[in-house]
Amino acid sequence: MSTAYWLLSIAGGVIALSIVLPAFVGGAWSPTSMARVRAMLRLANLAPGETLYDLGAGDGRIILTAAREFGARSVGIEIDPLRAALCNWRIRLGRLQDRVRVERANFFEVDLRDADVVTFYLSQAAADRLKDKFEAELRPGARVVSHRRPVPGWRPAAVDERRGLYVYVMGKTHAADT
Ligand SMILES: C[S@@+](CC[C@H](N)C(=O)[O-])C[C@H]1O[C@@H](n2cnc3c(N)ncnc32)[C@H](O)[C@@H]1O
Repeated sequence: MSTAYWLLSIAGGVIALSIVLPAFVGGAWSPTSMARVRAMLRLANLAPGETLYDLGAGDGRIILTAAREFGARSVGIEIDPLRAALCNWRIRLGRLQDRVRVERANFFEVDLRDADVVTFYLSQAAADRLKDKFEAELRPGARVVSHRRPVPGWRPAAVDERRGLYVYVMGKTHAADT
């Protein structure tokens, strides 16, 4: 077998793993449309200087838009090394290193205490697991914006039904009416 064959096989294996593995720990890659990204950030009332976390940053579109168009500081958490590298490259290309960073990590293990806004587009199982983490770590007034996955038992402060977006405000509307 030639060296080229082995190199191509290894590269193919790495790319296949990067597609398949995240599906088991939070959700496979499927980028949010740019129209939805802007709608999510508007619905969250993201203000200049606030800190946004995107859980599962993908290609970095949410963290980059939060900084460029809303003047926020943003942090992307991405488990896949290829997509984390892509985010880093886009951050450097946009000269946004002072306001945007990406961590290659599992978001279940990242402290979210300094977040003003958290966004995510993940599996329903991940949304279910994140609920306890949000309740333990997010300060009152922090906003959680979900694309497609309502947080079970929480009452949204705002919903964009057409785009499938849900916004929750910690300490105000996140607890279900009982
Ligand atoms: C549906 S994509 C959303 C990407 C981006 N947030 C967007 O809206 O365009 C989900 C992303 O989450 C990442 N992911 C899944 N589970 C994760 C975990 N436990 N920790 C960090 N990233 C994770 C995947 O690799 C994938 O890039």
